Amino acid sequence: MNKNLTNDQIKAVVQEAYNVVKSDTGGKNADYIPYLANVSSSLFGLSVCLPDGEVIEVGDTGYVFGIESVSKVPTAILVMKQYGADVILQKIGADATGLPFNSIMAILLENDHPSSPLVNAGAISACSMVKPVGDSAGKWKAITDFLGQLCGSPLVLIDELYKSESDTNFNNRSIAWLLKNYNRIYDDPDMALDIYTRQCSLGITPKQLSICGGTIANRGVNPVTKTQVFDKALAPKITSMIATVGFYQHTGDWMYTSGVPAKTGVGGGVLGVVPGVMGIAAFSPPLDDAGNSVKAQKAILYIANKLGLNIF
Ligand code: DON
Repeated sequence: MNKNLTNDQIKAVVQEAYNVVKSDTGGKNADYIPYLANVSSSLFGLSVCLPDGEVIEVGDTGYVFGIESVSKVPTAILVMKQYGADVILQKIGADATGLPFNSIMAILLENDHPSSPLVNAGAISACSMVKPVGDSAGKWKAITDFLGQLCGSPLVLIDELYKSESDTNFNNRSIAWLLKNYNRIYDDPDMALDIYTRQCSLGITPKQLSICGGTIANRGVNPVTKTQVFDKALAPKITSMIATVGFYQHTGDWMYTSGVPAKTGVGGGVLGVVPGVMGIAAFSPPLDDAGNSVKAQKAILYIANKLGLNIF
C-alpha cells in the first residue's frame, strides 16, 4: 500500500472523486423507514480524516443524517472494550452471513451464534451486552459517550427518525425474540431492541463519521482530539469484522473490487477504514439493492484506486 501520500494529493483526489460521482443518478432512498424516504436524494458529502488530525471535507459534510447500521461498529468496539475481544466469538460470532442485514434466515442457519455484531441480529445481541446490564439509561449513556469520543464531538438523536424506526421495526422485533429463544440476548429483549433502534437513529455528519473511521485507522487514538479511545489491540478486530460483513451480501464483491474495509448504513453513510492511513466517510442517500449507498461506494472506490488504498 502506498503510504507516502501528501495531504494535498489526498485532498485533490477527494475533490476529483466528488466531481466525478456527483451527477450519478443510481439507487433509491431507503423507503421501509418513512423518515429516510423523505431525505433529499441529491445530498452528497465526502470526508477523510488523516492520522495527523487533518480532516478533508467536500460537499455536504455538515449535514446530519441517520447513522443507521454504521452504529453497529462503535457498539461492537464498546462491547469488546467492556468485556475483552474474545467475548465476540463466545457470545455473538465474527462470521460473514452472505445474507441481507436483517436476515432471520441467518439466525436459523447458525442459531448457535448471531454471526456478527455488524448485522442486525448480532447488533441487537451486542446492545443487550452493553454494561450496565438492566439499565437502559446507563446503556444509552455508555453508547453515546463512547460514540462522542470516537467522533470527537457528541451525536444527537434524530427524534423523528427514532419514532419512524420504532413504528416500523417489526422484523427487528422478531429477531430480538428469536435470539432470546436461542439464549443470545443478555438483557431484556425489548430493552436491547430499543437501544439498537435508538442508536440507529442518531444523527451524524460525514465529518464526524470520517473522524470515527480515522480513530479506528489510527488504532484507537482519535487523530483530532489525540485521546486514546480504545485499546490498539481492538482495531484489527473491528476492522476484520468490517471487512467480513460491512456490505452484507455484497461484501465479497466490494472487498474484491476496492480492498477497503467499509461499513454501510441505510441512511446513506459509508465508513471506510484504511489501517494506519485514513478514515473515509461518504454520504449520499440513494442505495443499491443491499442497502448500500451507490454514490458513496463509487466515491470510495475512486479514491481507493487513485491513491492505492487496497489493503491486500
Ligand atoms: O435495522 C434496521 O433496519 C435499520 N435501523 C438499520 C439497517 C441498516 O442501516 C442496514 N445497512 N445498510
